[in-house]
Amino acid sequence: MHQRYVRQVFKPGAFNHRPNHANRMLIPPGNWEAADPFLVLVEDQFHAPSGFPDHPHRGIETVTLVLDGHLRHADNRGNAGVLAHDDVQWMTAGGGISHAELPWQKYEAHTLQLWLNLPSAQKMVPSGYQDLPAAERTVLNDDGIDVRVISGGFENAMATTQNIVPVQYLDVTARAGKTATLPVPASHNGFVHVVEGSVLIGAERTPAGAGDVAWLDYPEVESGVASLTVEAQTDARFLVVTGQPVREPVVAYGPFVMCTTDEIRQAYADYEAGRFGGPTPAALEVRGTSTQ
Ligand code: CO
Repeated sequence: MHQRYVRQVFKPGAFNHRPNHANRMLIPPGNWEAADPFLVLVEDQFHAPSGFPDHPHRGIETVTLVLDGHLRHADNRGNAGVLAHDDVQWMTAGGGISHAELPWQKYEAHTLQLWLNLPSAQKMVPSGYQDLPAAERTVLNDDGIDVRVISGGFENAMATTQNIVPVQYLDVTARAGKTATLPVPASHNGFVHVVEGSVLIGAERTPAGAGDVAWLDYPEVESGVASLTVEAQTDARFLVVTGQPVREPVVAYGPFVMCTTDEIRQAYADYEAGRFGGPTPAALEVRGTSTQ
């Protein structure tokens, strides 16, 4: 079986600080082919009154993991809720949605948001959500290693998450000295993001530490299963996120990711004409205490 290895370790550096908001790019935009099917991964830490008030998206999915604190969410379809520690929201923006992502009450929101590309034929699918609460996630426990399956999976641990682009997303904690051996689709491109601790990744035992994004060897086959080992040098938490490359042109502008500049112009025209359904009602942004 092919043993996945690390082709490159990206070290994100320090957070950018603004009032009530710190962030850093873990997958910076612009490296579309190398990151395919992923576009951006950003880590945010914010308090009220900072956050992301009403804004649109088209052509992507956003996958938000709350690392700590709470995240309040509301959109222009009447949905509102609060995500807590370790909850995940998988939002399909598809043809267009407008939403707000804000802190809840006095709490900090510490989040990881991944942007996932949609193929041209499915960029305009209806928008929707899959809320994946921490308590309902599939967990495999194996002698000091916990694997929480957020998407995809293996053996008897398949997540129910529906994918447009096939993605396997594993949230792993391992005790110091333990080695996780994880099946990873051989056709997937992807990365390991170390949330906490120090690890050695893949066939070449490449070291990575907290904050790092270690990219796996770019796939050269169309099917089959490969294997990835991650050795925890300290107690560690890491995300193993891989997906089937889309292999199409990417034109990204602000919150829209399409294949051509004409499609970007159309997205702005549609948004300005209200064809995304108008803004998120202020009452929903303010309320934000119900759960969907
Ligand atoms: Co957004």
